Amino acid sequence: MLVTRLKLAYFNMLEERRLKKLSSPMFRKIDADWKRHYHRINPYKVCRTFWNNPHGIYGETPLSALDPILKECALGPSDVFYDLGAGRARLAIYVAATYPCKVRAVEKIELFNHHTMQLIATYPLHLELHDADILEIDVSDATLIYFYGITFSDNFIRKVAEKIPYGCRVITVSEPLGGRFSVLKKYWVRYPWGKTEVFLQK
Ligand SMILES: C[S@@+](CC[C@H](N)C(=O)[O-])C[C@H]1O[C@@H](n2cnc3c(N)ncnc32)[C@H](O)[C@@H]1O
Repeated sequence: MLVTRLKLAYFNMLEERRLKKLSSPMFRKIDADWKRHYHRINPYKVCRTFWNNPHGIYGETPLSALDPILKECALGPSDVFYDLGAGRARLAIYVAATYPCKVRAVEKIELFNHHTMQLIATYPLHLELHDADILEIDVSDATLIYFYGITFSDNFIRKVAEKIPYGCRVITVSEPLGGRFSVLKKYWVRYPWGKTEVFLQK
């Protein structure tokens, strides 16, 4: 347990260093505020309590590791990026503060959404929060979707895949969506829990 905590602290320290070099002053300002909002809130506990099932296994994407993939996607003003299951919306905020596309964060946990709403109200971000279930939200305008769906059932993932509009690119972690999607590129990405493949598909 102690070793795991130390490893996580070390991982986070390296991530923060990389992010400092990578991110814009605008993101760093919002991020400092984001950290103040979540001071003393344990997202793992919040998520576990809210879902009381396997969806409750919380984790966040290391922004510095995902950024090279986002760069390659060349998000422009006509793009609409979705984070399906946005959690504390740090990734959504990062994308909105870094790229000129529209960003939509989809999340069900009220506590996370409460803080995300306050941040959206404070900063001029082109980010919309959808307090909605991933399976119920209309994603027909999406051009790039990020789905960190490692804890979802095959049935859930299949239902998500069915909703995705043709031509939309999708980034998934650990497994590709399969079916009508073709993998455009694979990447090795280091998450706090280990190195895994990330798939960009269409
Ligand atoms: C692993 S976290 C990912 C957070 C963020 N996307 C990131 O990569 O940093 C998954 C999030 O999905 C949310 N989630 C799980 N099932 C959901 C559902 N059916 N509808 C909306 N959000 C859901 C959870 O509450 C959790 O915050």
